[in-house]
Amino acid sequence: MVIVFAFLVPGFCTTWSEWWSYEGISGPDFWGHLNTAWSLCYKGKKQSPINIDPRNILFDPTLKHLHVEKHRVSGTLMNTGHDLKLVLDEPSSHAVYISEGPYTYVYLVREIILHFGSVDSIGSEHTIDDASYPAEIQIIGYNADLYGNMTQAVTSPNGIAVIALLAQVGKRPNREFDLIAQSIRDVRYKGEQVRIRHLSISGMIPETKEYITYDGSLTQPGCHETVTWVIMNKPIYITHEHLRELRGVMQGDEANNKTTMENNCRPTMPVHQRPIRTNINFESSSKSCTMERQMHYQVGHATPPSNRLSNQPLATPVTTTTLDFIKALRLQESKATKAELNSTNTAHRICSVAANVLFVCLLFTQTETILASC
Ligand SMILES: *[C@@H]1O[C@H](CO)[C@@H](O)[C@H](O)[C@H]1NC(C)=O
Ligand SMILES: *[C@@H]1O[C@H](CO)[C@@H](O)[C@H](O)[C@H]1NC(C)=O
Ligand SMILES: *[C@@H]1O[C@H](CO)[C@@H](O)[C@H](O)[C@H]1NC(C)=O
Repeated sequence: MVIVFAFLVPGFCTTWSEWWSYEGISGPDFWGHLNTAWSLCYKGKKQSPINIDPRNILFDPTLKHLHVEKHRVSGTLMNTGHDLKLVLDEPSSHAVYISEGPYTYVYLVREIILHFGSVDSIGSEHTIDDASYPAEIQIIGYNADLYGNMTQAVTSPNGIAVIALLAQVGKRPNREFDLIAQSIRDVRYKGEQVRIRHLSISGMIPETKEYITYDGSLTQPGCHETVTWVIMNKPIYITHEHLRELRGVMQGDEANNKTTMENNCRPTMPVHQRPIRTNINFESSSKSCTMERQMHYQVGHATPPSNRLSNQPLATPVTTTTLDFIKALRLQESKATKAELNSTNTAHRICSVAANVLFVCLLFTQTETILASC
């Protein structure tokens, strides 16, 4: 094993970013072993993509409608050898921001990445009830409230927002995607680039207010767990013609074209305990089945959560009504946050955050269980 990996270490003429692929010994199963900076690819438990099991998604009435600004933007479409990536120009006055939806911060759109398959039954990274789509278009933004650029945001909490569009073959293709598709033949080989002008990102997003959201990771090395995903509940339509162009794209340059790029999708990863939330109200008719009532019921029987993960004692006694319980929780959280900001001890900081997050998750999970049975 040691010999194999020593053999894999790239030489002076290659960089780490070139040293991974979607198959074989440099494929997804090995990403986490190729470079210590990518260890989350195999150690991480909040990885992406995932399969969305419709039976396990949770209606969250607090989710807002997603907001994407309507400006047209320009950028450079490039063949990276791993994918086709549209990198938008440095934002001037016409930047496109993503906000609302599940997002507390405002995200600046910087890139769009295309994943696609060799046949229509594979290609998307996310799957719905174990079914794949022929392609997936990922609109990627970074948290512009907190960070200065993509590089910094990728490794930072709440750093990245990705809107995933699952592509379906249809006779009337999305016009904005068509703008990109017309340039695919110009980026057939690695390193090739072409300008894309006056693209409407909001026009590429299918007209629906419904989406699914969860916390996950980048789907390429280093698999950082800093992404809040939104998967729109309607497909974007593309044509067979578009897919044919995509399937002609190569991983290498013209002199050494290696093999085709198709099937550049990471297999789905375990969901573990993550809640997969949606604003699709499957049971809107059932008025008696609201979050609030269920939480009230649950909290009335709850015992104060154990403190074993946190050094901080509960500041306020746990009371019996929902509202007071949540208030007490918030008070404790805000105290912890202030202490964190002041603390120089990073380890302590991470632990206290983790304890608070766990606390909230427990509450959430209990609610999910009860809701599912009513
Ligand atoms: C991104 O921001 C960080 C922190 O402000 C800075 O150190 C770094 O040079 C920036 N990187 C790029 C590519 O601009
Ligand atoms: C890729 O390279 C091989 C061998 O040089 C060649 O036969 C083939 O036509 C090339 N394919 C493309 C799409 O350039
Ligand atoms: C932060 O630390 C300083 C110095 O130790 C202290 O004077 C200040 O009250 C602390 N602030 C908060 C919000 O805890």
